[in-house]
Amino acid sequence: MLLGVNIDHVATLRNARGGVEPDVLAAAKICEKCGASSITTHLREDRRHIKDEDVKLISENIKINLNLEMAVTDEMQKIALKIKPHSVCLVPEKRQEVTTEGGLDVAGQSDKITNFVKPLVDAGIEVSLFIDPTEEQVKASAKTGAQFIEMHTGSYSNAYGTENEEIEFLKLKNSAKLAQELGLRVNAGHGLNYENVHRMHEIDDLYELNIGHSIISKAVFTGLEQAVNEMNNLVK
Ligand code: PXP
Repeated sequence: MLLGVNIDHVATLRNARGGVEPDVLAAAKICEKCGASSITTHLREDRRHIKDEDVKLISENIKINLNLEMAVTDEMQKIALKIKPHSVCLVPEKRQEVTTEGGLDVAGQSDKITNFVKPLVDAGIEVSLFIDPTEEQVKASAKTGAQFIEMHTGSYSNAYGTENEEIEFLKLKNSAKLAQELGLRVNAGHGLNYENVHRMHEIDDLYELNIGHSIISKAVFTGLEQAVNEMNNLVK
């Protein structure tokens, strides 16, 4: 199983001051050095964290794969076809949401998604659909021409350690199996952290996990001691 790192929240921090620190490309390079298989960036319609220039810079300067998360819009399709990332992950997007709240409703808009996927696949880009782990969404995804699904692990992550954990986990395990039988490759992500990630090993042949918030959050604390010590040495 591979690890893709979502570095959106490095950009969130940078944008809080409007400057250049912390440097998003430097973050991508550290992930690359540490063995991440890909860098994920979600270019949102409102550009609240990752900006167009970040995507371009990262795509030109990393050797590992760039996975561009994006909404199903003409604007994003144009950008993807220009930048040609290794893969795109199609996600639903609402302006007001804090993060991607649910999966893409592929079953409810299968013609639209199928038409959207084709030019991307024709351009050599791998396409993944970020869906809730349900039979309906998996079956619909298999008919679109996309090569991958990414299962939304948010409900599992929220249920972890509660009486609902098993129910949510089994939805992931069963959906992965069905998807693979239908010829799809399977990724997973959202809300995974250092406590709940271990159960992903119980799902056969998961290809890649995409994890962001918990890694960037942990990095604040694993790096804070050194950061304070360095500054203290300058101040003393
Ligand atoms: N996968 C997708 C499709 C996402 O939208 C996100 C969040 O941007 C993630 C994975 C990563 O989620 P988290 O930041 O909770 O690890």
